[in-house]
Amino acid sequence: MLVVTEAQNYLDRSRDEIVWRIISDGVIEGQRTLAVGVVAEEFLERLLQALEHGSFLDIVTWVDQICESYRGFPQIGSMLASACRAVIAQLGNLDTGDGEVVMRLGALEHSICAVAFKPRPLRLRSEPPLDEIDMLVHGLIEKLETADPLSAEHSNAVSAWCGRIGRRLSLSETEVTYVSRCGLLHDVGKVRVGSEILKAPRALTDSEWVVMRSHALASEEIVSGLRPLRNLAPAVRSHHERLDGRGYPDGLVGSQITLATRIVTVADAFNAMIGRRLYRLPLSPENALDRLLEDRGQQFDPIVVEAMVCVVGHK
Ligand SMILES: [Fe+2]
Repeated sequence: MLVVTEAQNYLDRSRDEIVWRIISDGVIEGQRTLAVGVVAEEFLERLLQALEHGSFLDIVTWVDQICESYRGFPQIGSMLASACRAVIAQLGNLDTGDGEVVMRLGALEHSICAVAFKPRPLRLRSEPPLDEIDMLVHGLIEKLETADPLSAEHSNAVSAWCGRIGRRLSLSETEVTYVSRCGLLHDVGKVRVGSEILKAPRALTDSEWVVMRSHALASEEIVSGLRPLRNLAPAVRSHHERLDGRGYPDGLVGSQITLATRIVTVADAFNAMIGRRLYRLPLSPENALDRLLEDRGQQFDPIVVEAMVCVVGHK
């Protein structure tokens, strides 16, 4: 870690300059506040500590909290992302050759942008529901949001990806709506998984994984318990199946897995990989697509993966 120490010494010497650069580059004109400056300084301090100790997970955890607290205040997210860019630029100037550190900072910058600039969803409770199905779907998502906000946020994103993949595959609007709803409800069974497992800041143990995996069946049970949603239940149940039969809960193989399920599976895997978790760093969209491409034919439907690659537009 000598090169990192060298970089840290440089960053220490240039601290005032970097903080000023973060503040001036990273905030919206006219919104430079003392609070933003304080956050910039603290973030830089933590970045330096992470460089010294390699404790990037601490940074990810803190970024999670601060993005949640300041969501709707884009100048904070912009400043955090700018801090990453400033440090990456300094490391690049030093030619440290420590590609992993730069890659991790890049992934952190990406995840900050993804979270901080996503507006808090509007809650127009007085607005009448579009129809009975939407009303039931949103009722279930509200319960999931109460149990685990991260899962609800993930489900909303998966639903959006499903819609984009469906359109890329030239599905009809009815089919796109269907697969989007499957994506929205795929993890709703997590309301029955305890928060000590859902929010564990570490990899799960084998016995915890058994409980976690039970969410697929729980999702099916919840969805099929509401008559208007019953036709969504099969794709919800099967969203962790794999083409090679090594998935769960039924170990379905190849053609036993429907197109809707295959779309949800790819959207779910991609969004999970680019998302932040307390126990690991996010992948960049490009690296997540590489993982999908590596596993096409075994885990994922190659045509759906191809559609996802086009939708994301990184390759
Ligand atoms: Fe799931």
